[in-house]
Amino acid sequence: MISRINSETRLYVLIGDPVEHSFSPLMHNAAFQFCGINSVYLTLQVKSDGLGDAIKGIKSMGISGLNVTIPHKVSIMKYLDEIDSNAKNIGAVNTVINKDGRLIGYNTDGAGALASLKRGKGDPAGKKVVLLGAGGAARAISFSIAPFASRLVVLNRTRSKATSLVKAIKKRINIDIVGEELTINTLSRELADTELLINTTSVGMFPKIDETLVDRHLIKPNMVVFDIIYNPPETRLLREATASGAKALNGINMLVNQGALSFKLWINLEPPIDVMLRAINRGLRGG
Ligand SMILES: NC(=O)c1ccc[n+]([C@@H]2O[C@H](COP(=O)([O-])OP(=O)(O)OC[C@H]3O[C@@H](n4cnc5c(N)ncnc54)[C@H](OP(=O)(O)O)[C@@H]3O)[C@@H](O)[C@H]2O)c1
Repeated sequence: MISRINSETRLYVLIGDPVEHSFSPLMHNAAFQFCGINSVYLTLQVKSDGLGDAIKGIKSMGISGLNVTIPHKVSIMKYLDEIDSNAKNIGAVNTVINKDGRLIGYNTDGAGALASLKRGKGDPAGKKVVLLGAGGAARAISFSIAPFASRLVVLNRTRSKATSLVKAIKKRINIDIVGEELTINTLSRELADTELLINTTSVGMFPKIDETLVDRHLIKPNMVVFDIIYNPPETRLLREATASGAKALNGINMLVNQGALSFKLWINLEPPIDVMLRAINRGLRGG
């Protein structure tokens, strides 16, 4: 790929802090190469107090598009020229297009999660969904699944974040939804009749891979358990879900689908999802 870089090569970047463990360069560079697109994708570490300057640089240097990760998903919004309505509802941006010098923000996390649920036979349509967490990913996923689920229960360690997410969704979507504190009691009550459990918290993520929020006895064989963590690919929650006879889905497909949607926004071409998935799997195996 390096040999193809020339004066016409377009640049796409991920900005965040930290960025050094991201799999996005593997996935997007594999997609550019497969589609014969003269572009490269790099990571740029941008500290919180440097975001404004970074945005000015992105505009003045004509960088073609961005992905945005922690800690800038919310703070970038004030620097953008336009924000699409879905990202506005969610309150966070993970993808930016540079359209003739105007920066336009989108959020592909929720649609990526919904696509991967459908692909994994975990379609939320008509189901009661219990969602653990109320952070950035939880907001994106809740807005995407709320129009389809029959009931949505948001459980979060910090109760106020769950209730403010529920309030924001209620304003825009007509759904049976509640937000409560995540406790042993609320979990066991709500999981008793749930078909779809989604973990959007970071509990169980590398390196604390032995942690889980859900007692394995609460997982029933008729459940789909979706853990959006992708490193490790099988969290303790998913291992115990499989052992209980439930269907386990990890975050790899969500990662690929949200990346594929970013690719489509930037390039306006059908993304090569299988190529992107193989690149991520290679990265997770350390290749
Ligand atoms: N597969 C993908 O494509 C994808 C995309 C985005 C994110 N993710 C993953 O999703 C996870 C969350 O990301 P995010 O951006 O939403 O982060 P975030 O905004 O920081 O939210 C973190 C959430 O985890 C909860 N939490 C953290 N530690 C906890 C603990 N010990 N006990 C109970 N709850 C705890 C937080 O609860 P409080 O509100 O109480 O602090 C909050 O709800 C990360 O693991 C990230 O890698 C995956």
